[in-house]
Formats: sequence, C-alpha cells, structure tokens
Amino acid sequence: MAPTLLLTGAAGRVAGQLLPGLTGRTVRLLDRTTPSGETGAEVLTGELTDRDLLARAVEGVDTVVHLAGDPRPDATWDDLRGPNVDGFTALLEAAADHGVRRVVYASSVHAMGRYEAEGRTPVESTWAPAPCCEYGATKAFDEAMAAAFSHRRGLSTIGLRLGATTPEPTQRSQLSGWLGPTDLRRLVVGAVETDVRCGVYPGISANTRTHWDLSRAVADLGYRPELDSEAYAATVEDDGTTIATCG
Ligand SMILES: NC(=O)c1ccc[n+]([C@@H]2O[C@H](COP(=O)([O-])OP(=O)(O)OC[C@H]3O[C@@H](n4cnc5c(N)ncnc54)[C@H](O)[C@@H]3O)[C@@H](O)[C@H]2O)c1
Repeated sequence: MAPTLLLTGAAGRVAGQLLPGLTGRTVRLLDRTTPSGETGAEVLTGELTDRDLLARAVEGVDTVVHLAGDPRPDATWDDLRGPNVDGFTALLEAAADHGVRRVVYASSVHAMGRYEAEGRTPVESTWAPAPCCEYGATKAFDEAMAAAFSHRRGLSTIGLRLGATTPEPTQRSQLSGWLGPTDLRRLVVGAVETDVRCGVYPGISANTRTHWDLSRAVADLGYRPELDSEAYAATVEDDGTTIATCG
C-alpha cells in the first residue's frame, strides 16, 4: 500500500484544487470542518492545536501536506496566531515526535511581499523573508520554525510560497502571481518527492508577467509549470494594480 499522506486544511479552497492530483495515494484528511464531497479518504475533524488529535492524525504518516491556516492577508494578529503560528508549530512537533518523513507546508508570496511592493523583481527565493503584512510575517515565522525543525529534529520540511491559487485569475493584480490548479498539483507532487531535505520555493504558474524567479523550484523540485495567466489578461477586472501582495 502507498505510504499515507495527511492533508490538513482539507475542506479549504486550495485543498479542493489539489485533491485531484493526489489520486493513487493513501490520503487522510484533517480540518476543523468536514470536507464536502466523497473522497473515500479517512477524515479527522478538529483543531490543529489539539495535540491528541494531531497524534492520531500523523500516526503511520510518511508526508504531511499542510494547508490549514488563516489565508487572509488583512487578518489581525489575534486571528492569525492560533492557526498560523501555534497550530503550525504543534503540527511540526507531532510530525517530528511520530517519525513523519516530511512536512510540505503552504507559505505565501506575502512572506516576500515587500520586495514586490518596492519593485525589486523578479524576487529570488533565496533572499531573506520580507513580509508586507502580519499574515506574511506569520508565514515567514513558519519558514523559520520549519527550518529549525529540519536542523534540530531531522524532519524534512519544504515550504511553498503560494501565489493567488485559484481556478483562473479574475483581477489584473493576480496576473503576476497566479498559480493554476494543474501547476499546484505539479508543484506539490514535486515537493513531496524531491531529494532536497529543507527548502522554500515560490508557487507560481509560468506567467508572462511574473514577479517571481522560479529557477530553484525548477531545479530542486522538478517543477515544470504549464499555465500562463496571460491567457486571461484581456478578460480580468482592472483593480488598479499589478502587485499581488500588500502594496
Ligand atoms: N488561496 C490562496 O490563494 C493562497 C495563497 C497563498 C497561500 N495560501 C495558503 O494556503 C493555505 C490554504 O489556503 P485556502 O485558500 O485553501 O484557505 P481556506 O480558508 O479556504 O482553507 C483553510 C482550511 O483550513 C482550516 N483551518 C483553519 N484553521 C484551522 C485550525 N486551527 N484547525 C483545523 N483546521 C483549520 C479551515 O477550516 C479551512 O478549511 C493557507 O495556509 C493559506 O495561507 C493560500
């Protein structure tokens, strides 16, 4: 039987786009709300900060794909702290304690948003984190904590700085940082399977107007994006900016 993969945030929007790319794997789902639709997968419902639930969730798991979190760039620290900081750290601890091989986790382009706002593009993935908001700061924290767990506990951690992860871009500001569904699946499968032990990579499609340098994701994860937001450029709403992160 294929090694078990735990998907957190399984009831969310990104998970809904990712799940069709995980067929052929044994998947366990975790979310605070019950995912809709019948996937045939085992489902656990509850909070990321519930350590007993996390222990059951990671039991026998090879890889965690961690998407649970508050995805709102305008969220307050009070809202973000539980899911994005305490919950993520609890997940890393459970994974390290129970012999999980790897955690692939959703970071965000907002962890690097100040570079984009200042016009320092294309943003390279090796530059120091430069968040543009509290949300981006929680993702930069997650990247630092994941690297510490790789260093101290031997847990493999791969962070993906996702851009606007939607079936198609709907606004001009999304044209540079859009990540389409089939590229999301390619990226996550590459992150699950890479030989790299610890790293952080941009999660963006092959957009003509990109602000993000994908070369390390190509080299390390074998990521070969095939979608380009340019196909939607004539039809998206003009929201007055070309910047995906907080300006
Ligand atoms: N959607 C995007 O365009 C985008 C862009 C960049 C990064 N991300 C990141 O990707 C991840 C998924 O985003 P999304 O858009 O699917 O968000 P979403 O809100 O649609 O889904 C997140 C899921 O996580 C669950 N969740 C939140 N806190 C939880 C907790 N404490 N315990 C258990 N479950 C909890 C929610 O119930 C929800 O189903 C997030 O980490 C987000 O920051 C998303």
